[in-house]
Amino acid sequence: MSLSSNLETVLVVDFGSQFTQLIARRVREAGIYSEIIKHNNLYKLIRLKNVKGIIFSGGPFNVNNKLIKIKKKIYNLDIPILGICFGHQIISKSLGGKVKESKFREFGNALVKEKSKSILTKNFFNKKKTNNVWMSHADVVYKLPKDFKIIASSKNSKYAIIENTKKKIYGVQFHPEVSHTTKGLNIINNFVYSICKIKKNWSIKDQKKTLIKEIKKEVGNHKVLCALSGGVDSSVVAKLIHQSIKNNLICIFVNTGLLRKYEEIDVVNTFKKKFKINLIYVDAKKLFLSKLKNINDPEKKRKVIGNLFIKVFEKKSKLFKNIKYLAQGTLYPDLIESKSVTGSPTSKIKSHHNVGGLPKKMKFKLIEPLKYLFKDEVRKLGAELSLSKNVIFRHPFPGPGLAIRIPGNVTEEKVRILKEADYLFINHLKLNKLYDKIWQAYAALMPVKTVGVMGDNRTYEYMCLLRAITSEDGMTADFFNFDKKFLQSISNKIINNVKGINRVVLDVTSKPPSTIELE
Ligand code: XMP
Repeated sequence: MSLSSNLETVLVVDFGSQFTQLIARRVREAGIYSEIIKHNNLYKLIRLKNVKGIIFSGGPFNVNNKLIKIKKKIYNLDIPILGICFGHQIISKSLGGKVKESKFREFGNALVKEKSKSILTKNFFNKKKTNNVWMSHADVVYKLPKDFKIIASSKNSKYAIIENTKKKIYGVQFHPEVSHTTKGLNIINNFVYSICKIKKNWSIKDQKKTLIKEIKKEVGNHKVLCALSGGVDSSVVAKLIHQSIKNNLICIFVNTGLLRKYEEIDVVNTFKKKFKINLIYVDAKKLFLSKLKNINDPEKKRKVIGNLFIKVFEKKSKLFKNIKYLAQGTLYPDLIESKSVTGSPTSKIKSHHNVGGLPKKMKFKLIEPLKYLFKDEVRKLGAELSLSKNVIFRHPFPGPGLAIRIPGNVTEEKVRILKEADYLFINHLKLNKLYDKIWQAYAALMPVKTVGVMGDNRTYEYMCLLRAITSEDGMTADFFNFDKKFLQSISNKIINNVKGINRVVLDVTSKPPSTIELE
């Protein structure tokens, strides 16, 4: 078992917190390489020479959960450890402290007060020796482990920050990784630089050079095929590989007819005309529409589109001889197993179709240059590669496209109507400087017609649904809070400009219980 890099690394041990990835991102933002591992792999990996620090994540468990065991030996290896929330509690319990269910749960903001100075809290407290932090815990440490000292306390957590400087072990009950904790990044910075003593080793600028070198070395004079969708991941992959091997990259762009308005034109203009990338454009609009005829079931729809995409792509790719590699825009979160910490697989909600998810039976070797990067790092890499803001900060778009935003039967007319409404909505968001505040927004066309009145005439037309959400990673989401003026103006704009729609509604559900897409 090994890590993916020889760089000095901070291991982030996942105990199932929704913030585990955020911790790893924060460490990288601080300029130090980090990788996420499962707790049961810790003992095997910790012996690697380049592991210079460990962070235990939070998690939904109780420290008495028998499935979570940490060998005591790891506390004696002279590698600095920082425990966050559950991580703090498990360190405390393992080393002789005590943890119990707290009478007073702490969720949300809390005030911590400094009790002693620590390297961990340099530049963390304000002049009044306090700080606002974000807590989310039901259990609490109530007896300090042996040889530990209190650094700070909150009203309900006496041991809110603790340390054992001799062993270089630290624990914080709150979450320094979330933005609601004031100066939380200082805790991360102090840990990696002053306690682990790692030198800055991670920047996307350097990473670009490393990746180009690695791609050149691996691919040599062979050819690489890439399915380009116009989304940020496949765009960055294409541009990165093109920068590495120039014309030995062949991109295939399939126009399914289910893309956003003008998307195919943008892709061709950017990649073929501007970047002079070898781009093959496949017009499959009619084919996709004909295969979707009378398919109402969401899962069946997704399968039809996914399989058809593969068929079209395979057929086109056969025209090119001697292609050895297939490029995919796999990201680090895709790689981190989707199994829960205790081993039970998470349930499948929808079968995802991804442009990158091409079949293994295609006899290509896979090249996945982004597989150790987070989405925000991919965006930074895109900027380093001179991709425009328009491409880099574009909202995510699902593989099955507009088809899953037209519940039920998809027809040419419905697609035409939806493209117009969606285009107006997205442009209106940009015009009102809201686009970048929203994680994803789209219009959908509901499969019902309702009665309206326009001028003196009765209308009987489709209903358009607007969805706009805020999110960290698409796993959970909240609906965006528009003001009435914005909603009024976009509703008018759509009704007045899109023939076929006479009613606009807003989706005000979060995820869960809803999903972001409708199907
Ligand atoms: P849901 O609807 O599952 O969506 O809450 C979460 C995020 O995933 C996107 N999505 C997809 N992306 N292929 C993709 O590449 C798919 O089949 C697919 N289905 C949903 C969705 O747009 C949202 O950002």
